[in-house]
Amino acid sequence: MPNDQRTEPATPGDDRVLVVLRERAFAAMERAYAPYSNFRVGAALLSSDGSITEGCNVENAAYPAGICAERSAVSAAVTRGNRTFETLLIATEAEEPTPPCGMCRQVLEEFSPRLTVVSATRDGREARWTLEELLPKAFTPHSLDRR
Ligand code: THU
Repeated sequence: MPNDQRTEPATPGDDRVLVVLRERAFAAMERAYAPYSNFRVGAALLSSDGSITEGCNVENAAYPAGICAERSAVSAAVTRGNRTFETLLIATEAEEPTPPCGMCRQVLEEFSPRLTVVSATRDGREARWTLEELLPKAFTPHSLDRR
């Protein structure tokens, strides 16, 4: 059964899930369209129902029109009907694990303030944060409450 159709719920602490997330994120990275920066990024997002959705960065000749891998993954997951995420795995070719950019942190916050973010390099280095660590004192949907 393909991994995006698994029926058993997965948890962020599940090592087998992390193995799959790594594979899927690095595979997505291979499909990145990054001719301007040459910085390819892949993302694999684990939803609360156990499904996994990938994203990659898609750049554009009009530079600001490009999108990061993480937001690409969120858009794809929401399109599939998933809005609650447990774990995000980011894959790059950098020497050190790279955290998500500020705009992606904000987009992730909208859906999953308690998200676990893991960033991996090709040679197996890994960093792990909570989204709360990456984006403290976030502007959230509740910030729009008038009283
Ligand atoms: N990028 C991502 O896809 N995710 C990040 O978290 C940081 C940056 C992309 C955007 C751009 O295509 C390239 O990496 C260089 O910034």
